Amino acid sequence: MTKRYVYISGEFVVEEDAKISVNDSAVLLGYSVTDSSRTFAHRPFKIERHVDRMYKSLKAARIDPGMSSAEMVRVTCEVTERNLEGLESHQDLWIVHTVSNGQTRLGPDPSVRESGATIIISNPFLDLRGWAGYYSTGCHAVTSTSRAIPAQSLDARIKNRSRMAYTLAEAEVKLVDSNAQGVILDVNGFVAENKGGNIFIVSEGELLTPTTVNCLAGISRETVLELATKLSIPTRETTLLPYDLYTADEMFFTSTPYCMMPATRFNGIDVGAGEVGPITKRLLAAWSELVDVDIVQQAREQR
Ligand SMILES: Cc1ncc(COP(=O)(O)O)c(C=O)c1O
Repeated sequence: MTKRYVYISGEFVVEEDAKISVNDSAVLLGYSVTDSSRTFAHRPFKIERHVDRMYKSLKAARIDPGMSSAEMVRVTCEVTERNLEGLESHQDLWIVHTVSNGQTRLGPDPSVRESGATIIISNPFLDLRGWAGYYSTGCHAVTSTSRAIPAQSLDARIKNRSRMAYTLAEAEVKLVDSNAQGVILDVNGFVAENKGGNIFIVSEGELLTPTTVNCLAGISRETVLELATKLSIPTRETTLLPYDLYTADEMFFTSTPYCMMPATRFNGIDVGAGEVGPITKRLLAAWSELVDVDIVQQAREQR
């Protein structure tokens, strides 16, 4: 099996040898920022936009990575390039960044640093099998009982690794339907996001998505909005309630690995005709064209 490399705080090491301290603030405090991007046909997609988002997250989280964003892009491309060696042409990789505040010490001030930032860049294989079936049938979207952390506590635009809240929310959804995908509402009952994706609906020909007051500024969300503009599909960032999802004509999630995941049922009720809708299909086709990879076929081939 080909060796996979990880960049870890200045070094390229074989994945099995990558280690961080038990005193790392990621371990002791869950104090770390993250970003996930991917390759399409072995080319990193919008890597500068992802790194730019991560640097905004780092600034807001008061973590100094000790490295410029241009250098971050450079090392990211270098480690990804190494890991692409030997990969089959129809396969792709994740590009996962984790940056913590470095080693810390338990005591009165959790921001105390006993080392520079811990920077990890890894390239897990992009396994799409879990989502592959949803492109044709759509998934069942279900609201969790747990609500999103309000921006007054932690701004959703800070893409962070403290995933306990969203992991529990998704687990609640799976109790309702083991195949369902979660829709997390905010504390006011507005639609926020999925544990790892943004939410869109099509209503009366218009493409609607929540504003980033309660969700991550997803790069896939941005891509869909750009593609919609190119296709002359009107778009609007707004507040959405569950009612809007029940009465939508189409619905889908967006996220880096699967790009777009249609949802054809919401809390047991058909969305529109209960089938993957025409605007969803047009956007997905436009995305495939943009990256020169048939997104649906790539996922299906892995099944
Ligand atoms: C909470 C959350 N919302 C939305 C997204 C989608 O973001 P992107 O499109 O940049 O992958 C993610 C991605 O992991 C996420 O974790």
